[in-house]
Amino acid sequence: MSEKENVRIAPATGKLGVLIPGIGAVTTTLVAGVEAIKRGLAQPIGSLTQLAAIRLGKRTDGRSPLIKDFVPLAGLNDLVFGGWDIFEDNAYEAAANAKVLETSLLEQVKEPLSALKPMKAVFDHQYVKNIDGPNVKQTGSKMDKAQMLMQDIRDFSEKNGTSRNIMIWCASTEVFHRPAECHQSLKAFEAALHKDDPDIAPSQIYAYASLMSGVPFANGAPNLTTDVPAMLELARDRSLPVCGKDFKTGQTFMKTLIAPGLKARMLGLSGWFSTNILGNRDGEVLEDPGSFKSKEETKLSVLEHILQPELYPMLYKDFYHAVRINYYPPRGDSKEGWDNIDIFGWLNYPMQIKIDFLCRDSILAAPIVLDLVLFLDLAQRAGMRGIQEWLSFYFKGPMTAPGLYPEHDIFIQLMKLKNTLRWMRGEDLITHLGMEYYD
Ligand SMILES: NC(=O)c1ccc[n+]([C@@H]2O[C@H](COP(=O)([O-])OP(=O)(O)OC[C@H]3O[C@@H](n4cnc5c(N)ncnc54)[C@H](O)[C@@H]3O)[C@@H](O)[C@H]2O)c1
Repeated sequence: MSEKENVRIAPATGKLGVLIPGIGAVTTTLVAGVEAIKRGLAQPIGSLTQLAAIRLGKRTDGRSPLIKDFVPLAGLNDLVFGGWDIFEDNAYEAAANAKVLETSLLEQVKEPLSALKPMKAVFDHQYVKNIDGPNVKQTGSKMDKAQMLMQDIRDFSEKNGTSRNIMIWCASTEVFHRPAECHQSLKAFEAALHKDDPDIAPSQIYAYASLMSGVPFANGAPNLTTDVPAMLELARDRSLPVCGKDFKTGQTFMKTLIAPGLKARMLGLSGWFSTNILGNRDGEVLEDPGSFKSKEETKLSVLEHILQPELYPMLYKDFYHAVRINYYPPRGDSKEGWDNIDIFGWLNYPMQIKIDFLCRDSILAAPIVLDLVLFLDLAQRAGMRGIQEWLSFYFKGPMTAPGLYPEHDIFIQLMKLKNTLRWMRGEDLITHLGMEYYD
């Protein structure tokens, strides 16, 4: 540790295991992408850890290293993937099914993808209603299942010789579910696992197994999962970082770009109607009202927090906000998201903005998963525990300390992320004040 550094960061030596519940569209797009990049077949477009630079010092200093040269991150060659799914398809078959990537690319990475065979999942149909599969751990209490997952993690680490692991939830969205009594403390949670309490979701069994195994956990879906006192207590006790929820990809990404701009110019909003069609398995799961409700919660909260109607009632009180998702099989993973935004300006004159984003969900999500894995591993090696607010940049519903509102503005999130990296290495934080150039 150099004198100016604020934290000691252990080196990224050895293999980093990436353990993923859910070997679906996002996961297979990530793994195929990493393998293609390793072979020089593609570039890591969309990934900050691979492409972004970070300015250090004054604008006149000319110091802008790549993030990956500034902080010690695991290299792509050191990543080893493993995971669980309720279907037996290996990652090559799952990728072919998901139809995100072209066959010609998949063929070139067929070997590593075929080698990724899902372990038996912990699944509960009550939590994901629209799908069912055979590759599931059948017997035992929820505590027994957690123990089986811990054994899976040990077996995976031994077999692959990993020195560290990260778990990231890329499985289906579970039904909306509020924190219950059993989530209030670790003691209550463990007692409830033994009693097979229906309030414990499968994602929480994975998260518990992960943290008990000393493995940091990230949540890519809007499920409650680690956003409860019991899990945060466990993360703190074991000194492990956690982050979530719900990857910020298509439409919400657009919202967090546009809304801060409207507020910056003090333009009013009377309504924001968002609708989507998508035809992948995620879309099929979101047809169930319970799973959709989880998604709706993270999608709706974004505007309220960015626009701050309590501070600006004249501009943002009572704006109408609706989000719809419709399952439309012909589109597959190529989602289309429309936004109709009714705004008003000087003297209340109305204006409209229309967005038609023809995006690809998993293409947008894959680099986010890669960055989260690498940054969460960095946080772990830097001894940072509990909620990692600096990773809010990647989430629709960022986790925060109790009582603290989340920061949704993507530009503030990016500044927070980069300043955290600067802070780790003892560099000056960049406030963008700039007075020093004019002294
Ligand atoms: N792609 C995006 O842009 C995006 C953005 C935000 C969040 N997400 C979330 O990421 C998750 C993955 O998305 P996807 O498009 O890959 O979905 P997908 O349906 O293709 O893959 C999810 C996989 O999880 C499996 N699964 C379900 N429950 C499981 C369990 N308990 N254990 C293990 N596996 C289980 C399913 O069988 C499926 O193969 C979804 O929850 C989605 O809402 C995706």
